[in-house]
Amino acid sequence: MENLRVITHPLVQHYLTTLRDKNTGVDEFRRSLRGITTLLAYEATREVPTITCQVETPMGQASGTKVYDGRVVLVAIFRAALGMVEPISDLVPGARIGHLGIFRDERTLEPNLYYTRVPSDLQDSLVLVLDPMLATGGSLVKACGILKERGARRLQALTIIAAPEGIAVMAREHPDVPVYTANVDERLNSIGYIVPGLGDAGDRQFGTFPEEKP
Ligand code: PRP
Ligand code: URA
Repeated sequence: MENLRVITHPLVQHYLTTLRDKNTGVDEFRRSLRGITTLLAYEATREVPTITCQVETPMGQASGTKVYDGRVVLVAIFRAALGMVEPISDLVPGARIGHLGIFRDERTLEPNLYYTRVPSDLQDSLVLVLDPMLATGGSLVKACGILKERGARRLQALTIIAAPEGIAVMAREHPDVPVYTANVDERLNSIGYIVPGLGDAGDRQFGTFPEEKP
């Protein structure tokens, strides 16, 4: 996929390995999610809207660059993306935040939208769609569709792990949306979980265990 960006930086891979480890507890999982998200966001924000300006240093005038206030919108897909919001909003001045409630039907794996709250003026913003897991791709495809219907023209997706199936669906349905990820894993299993993956990103982040997942 032309628009796939796999970030191989050793710190990204360090945090990814911690997230994968089944012995990583909730606190460390959340900390590592923050760390990896910050690093992915560093890559994904290279073309953030900016303005040039002048500032006074103690020694004189300097010309500089600032992020265009309010022109970055983060959209978190409930619930696993919630832990990705704070590290990026800490990094990107003036970022606005939208929320999409989408859950995957466990039987059909179809995405179901149950909540939408996003800024109304998306057309001039860089919109970063956050979801740690790109599995079948159903949730991310739906999210991008909704955001485009609401005017978004520049979308980028930030995921932690992507499955080949989800990448292929995104390339087909939204070829204009770059997907940033820390790794492309092997495959999906029979119940739509990424292998080797990290398990259920929501459960591991929020401690809502345990259902044994085969
Ligand atoms: C997970 C994950 C993604 C989605 C990915 O959420 O956070 O949103 O599945 O799967 P897909 O690519 O096959 O659509 P889930 O629906 O399990 O909800 P949760 O975050 O509330 O656990
Ligand atoms: N959602 C998750 O949390 N993990 C997966 O492996 C697939 C979907």
